[in-house]
Amino acid sequence: MLRTSLLYLSRQQRVFDFIRNVGFARKMASRFVAGETITTALDAVAALNAKGITASLDLLGESVANEAEARETGRQYLEILDRIDQRKLDANVSVKLTALGQDISDDLGVEIVREVLTRAKQYHSFARLDMESSAYTDRTLDTFEQQLYPDFRDNVGIVLQSALRRTLADVDRANRLQCRVRICKGAYLEPADVAFPEKADVDRNYVAAMHRLMEHGRYPGIATHDEAIIAEAKRFAKEKGIAPDRYEFQMLYGVRRDLQEQIVKEGYRIRVYVPFGAQWYPYLMRRLAERPANLAFMAGNIVKETLHR
Ligand code: FDA
Repeated sequence: MLRTSLLYLSRQQRVFDFIRNVGFARKMASRFVAGETITTALDAVAALNAKGITASLDLLGESVANEAEARETGRQYLEILDRIDQRKLDANVSVKLTALGQDISDDLGVEIVREVLTRAKQYHSFARLDMESSAYTDRTLDTFEQQLYPDFRDNVGIVLQSALRRTLADVDRANRLQCRVRICKGAYLEPADVAFPEKADVDRNYVAAMHRLMEHGRYPGIATHDEAIIAEAKRFAKEKGIAPDRYEFQMLYGVRRDLQEQIVKEGYRIRVYVPFGAQWYPYLMRRLAERPANLAFMAGNIVKETLHR
C-alpha cells in the first residue's frame, strides 16, 4: 500500500515542484543522489574509485518535454564522458532513451543516443540503456538491436527486469546477440499480466536469468542488493568455473555501502550507479518505495545530524 502510494507520488510533478526547495527533502535526496552538478557527481565517483569501486553516472531526468531539452540532455552526456576522460575516472554512463527524446520521436531519440555512443566509443567507454516501464520494453530492445548494437557492439548494453514475465526470452535473445546485459528486479509498478505480482516469483526469475547470463552471456551486470542472490551468484560462479572478471555486481549509490565494500574486499568487481542532477524527485521516490523503512531511517539520521550541529 505504502509502496503503491510512493510510486504514485513519484509521478506527481506538482508534488516535486512543492518539495524541491524544502531543505529536509533535499537532505533526504543527498543520501541517494550525488548532488545536482557534474562536478559533485564526479567527486562522488572519485571517492568510489578510491575504494576500488567503479561507477555508472546517470543524469536524472526522465521524459523530456521538447526537442531542445532532449538535445541539452545529450549535450550534457557528452560533457560527462569528456570529463570522465579528463579526470581519468573509472566510470561509464547510464542513459534513458526517454530523456534523449524517444517520446518526442523514435528518430530523435536514436539520433541523440548515437551521438552519445559515438563519444563513448571514442573513449573506449560504455553507455547502458536503462530500462523504463514495460510500455517501453519493446521499443527500447528493438531500437537497441536494430539501430545501435550493430555499430557499437563494445560500447552499449541493455537492462532486463526479472519482474517481467517475458524476461527469460529476452535473456536468450541477448545471449544469442552476445550483448552486455544488466539484470535487475525492476523498479516500476506493472500490471499483473506483464509482471509477477509476487516478490518470490520475481526473485526466482532473477536467479534463472542471472544463471543464463553468467553461463552463456557477455560480462553481465548483476544489479541487486539482495544478499541471498549475491551469494547464489558467487556459488554458481564457483560451480561453473566462471572467473570473477567475467561479470560484475552493481548497486545503487547510498544503498548497502557496507555490502559494496565487502564485495571489493572479497575480490569481486562492483560498479555503483551514481545518479545526479536537479530532477532527483522521481528517483528518490522509487528508492523509498523499494524500502519504505528508509523514510524513517533517513528522517532519523537528519534529526541526529541536526541535533549534533
Ligand atoms: P530487493 O528490493 O529485494 O532488496 C533486497 C535488499 O536490499 C533489501 O532487503 C534491502 O536490505 C536492500 N535494499 C534494496 N533497496 C534498498 C533501498 N532503496 N534502500 C536500502 N536498502 C535497500 N530498475 C529498473 O527498472 N530499470 C533499470 O534500468 C534499473 N537500473 C538499476 C541499476 C542498478 C545498478 C541497480 C542496483 C538497480 C537498478 N534498478 C533498475 C532498480 C532495481 O530494479 C530494483 O528496484 C532495486 O535494485 C531494488 O531491488 P534489489 O534487487 O536490491 O532487491
